Amino acid sequence: MTARKHLIAGNWKMNETYSEGVTLAQELANCLKSGTVEADVVVCPPFVDLKGVSGVIEFDSAPFELGAQNVYWEPSGAYTGEISCDMLKSVGATYCIIGHSERRDYFHETDEDINKKAQALLSAHIIPILCCGEDEHVREAGNHVAHVTAQIKAALQNISISDPCALVIAYEPIWAIGTGKTATPEDAEEVCAAIRETLATCLGEEIAQGIRILYGGSAKPGNIEGFLEKDNVDGALVGGASLVASDFAQMVDRA
Ligand code: PGA
Repeated sequence: MTARKHLIAGNWKMNETYSEGVTLAQELANCLKSGTVEADVVVCPPFVDLKGVSGVIEFDSAPFELGAQNVYWEPSGAYTGEISCDMLKSVGATYCIIGHSERRDYFHETDEDINKKAQALLSAHIIPILCCGEDEHVREAGNHVAHVTAQIKAALQNISISDPCALVIAYEPIWAIGTGKTATPEDAEEVCAAIRETLATCLGEEIAQGIRILYGGSAKPGNIEGFLEKDNVDGALVGGASLVASDFAQMVDRA
């Protein structure tokens, strides 16, 4: 099997003002410097914090990269309130979360929107962290694998990539996000293995073997290792625990 380097991504969501964000990034830079970082690490602050965190990465030579939490697919123009790929690049973002369940649920993002965002990011050479996941009802009905693989197929329509590092998938069961209820490593592996098969159908077997698939949903220092032991789980997308530098650094150490 292709060796895939672990990736730990922090999703700060709508937390941290500009100065709080800079402080958190500095704390994380300090925590991570003390150990050797073997995993890839990315933090995804709110838009207004991106420039400040990018300054910390540059001046502290921090061992992490910068990601955004959303993007709009048009390059520029009359789209009040939106942010383009070029704008993200101009502040140093190299990753961008798309299709998070909170955006699908609260902001009514569709699979078609997510597909357009994925295409725009790939063209701009920003790595999409494409999120998918089922809610409690879908899981209870036993339809979680079909639901998640359909999300992936829809998001990747008309997309082809030549480098598996150009794309990251995050499987986040909605019932486990911010609830303290985690999926078991076996639950995560079942879906992540099915995602990899779907990636093979959409993008080819070789590319699929190299794409990193993250688990997300109440991931924390105490449970991350169980997930990372699974064949098809290559890291974590971390919400709450990414807001405490020492916790997030511990998770990076365990990866
Ligand atoms: P959580 O969030 O770790 O707080 O559950 C994960 C996410 O929504 O990305």
